[in-house]
Amino acid sequence: MISFLKRLYFFCYLNRPWRLKNELFDRQYAYPNLKLLIKLKSNEWLTATKQAQLIKHQGSIKHLANRFINLLSFNRLKFRTQMAIYFSMALLCHDGENPLDPIDLLERIKMKQRTFKKLNAKINSIQGCEQNFDGLIDSYTRRSLVQYRILKEVIYWTDFKGKNLLAKKAQEVIASGSFPKKVGGRTSGAYFILNKLRDYLFIFKPFDEEIFGPNNTTVRSSLGCRLMRKGVLSGESCHREVAAYIVDHYLGLNIVPKTVYAKLSHIIFHDNAEGNRLVNRRLKLKRGSLQQYIPNTRHLKPANHIQELQLLSPISQEKLFVLDIIIGSVDRHYENILTDGQDVVAIDNGLSFVDRHEQYFWIWYHHFDHAKSPLSASMQACILDLDVEKLILCLKKSCHLDERCYQRLKERVALLVAGVKKQLAPTQIRHLLTDDYLKMVLDLNNQLQTKAEQAVDLYLQRSKNTRYLTMVHRAIPTEVC
Ligand SMILES: Nc1ncnc2c1ncn2[C@@H]1O[C@H](COP(=O)(O)OP(=O)(O)O)[C@@H](O)[C@H]1O
Ligand SMILES: [Mg+2]
Repeated sequence: MISFLKRLYFFCYLNRPWRLKNELFDRQYAYPNLKLLIKLKSNEWLTATKQAQLIKHQGSIKHLANRFINLLSFNRLKFRTQMAIYFSMALLCHDGENPLDPIDLLERIKMKQRTFKKLNAKINSIQGCEQNFDGLIDSYTRRSLVQYRILKEVIYWTDFKGKNLLAKKAQEVIASGSFPKKVGGRTSGAYFILNKLRDYLFIFKPFDEEIFGPNNTTVRSSLGCRLMRKGVLSGESCHREVAAYIVDHYLGLNIVPKTVYAKLSHIIFHDNAEGNRLVNRRLKLKRGSLQQYIPNTRHLKPANHIQELQLLSPISQEKLFVLDIIIGSVDRHYENILTDGQDVVAIDNGLSFVDRHEQYFWIWYHHFDHAKSPLSASMQACILDLDVEKLILCLKKSCHLDERCYQRLKERVALLVAGVKKQLAPTQIRHLLTDDYLKMVLDLNNQLQTKAEQAVDLYLQRSKNTRYLTMVHRAIPTEVC
């Protein structure tokens, strides 16, 4: 009965699309209705629409007569059919409900492409209709193939690198009957893994529950969208969490907790199809990043984070600065800095390794007095000795990142090295990572270091001029200004 009503609604929609609300139209019925639409000959189609109208407008005979006149005018019907097909195509192009299994996904793409072809044939057979859906279909296919790639990469890397000690320990803890705890009040889906004594051991972040991911509880979209940051695709943050730990380990900074790939199964993990209730849940195998929990730390308090930042030891401040430039973090706000009072722990590195430069977001950095003088000699030596190619090789062996992320990494490091060579202070180096100077080194390979040095010279020249202008401005009496 419900199914019949929904179909009826579909026909009503076809007749007066501007009157009915889109959201009332259930996506689940789009495909069967479409099949029906393709099958229907125009006469049957007309009868069906008439019936729909009759039932809908039973009350008013005058209204009904008007509807008949409308229905019998062929042009209007042509327009409506065209609208209906267009609307159905748009529905089919919605990629938020694509399956999370790559084989199913490929099947779905093929099936949809067959439907698109039939619909195209149908719409071309309507005389005088000049709609072109190629762009819509192309963009759907492109987006779905990006999803397919993301799924394949996550499956490959979690299978390949997911059998490590940390992951095994987490699996054992879960198998012993201990319930993971969802990290409360967060936008991205993360779970603390606790032992039976309720000691916190790890934090697990499934890739499909990431912010704007398909199983996120608050802001849901599809895999592969750039809604959160323009340089990071949703569903790919787990690779970045692992990559940040590898960079930290490679440089010997020791501020990122150990992070690995892991596969864990539990009923508590979220699946949109099941909803939020905890009863009748099935076991779900989830893939993502697993990070060691650091006890006796807390994130900086929003109210007095400036004072707390100034309490951090200078070496911790420096380490955080260098790490954030190299990994290209765009999400280092005070809640992603843990501290025990002096030392620092850099967590939540999922929004880093951007594949397009964007505004690198380090609100914390203006507040350090120490940042106004050059980096310490040992840190400078560490940066000048850094072999980027070797670091990239190490990253390629241990996790997945796009080639463009590596190119952006090289560009950031080139600017950092050039800045350190000129004895620039962190607050000055920070300016180098803005559009003006990043543009100068974009997509370069051979000339990269030379161009980066030129960018630093330009920065120095400009800042000298600015200093001169500010001095002049200060010297001029206010009345003249
Ligand atoms: N490795 C860790 N050790 C200790 N606490 C952690 C760790 N990772 C996360 N947390 C705690 O969990 C909170 C949420 O984690 P975070 O990774 O920032 O998730 P989100 O992506 O939702 O911001 C943090 O503010 C912090 O209090
Ligand atoms: Mg966070």
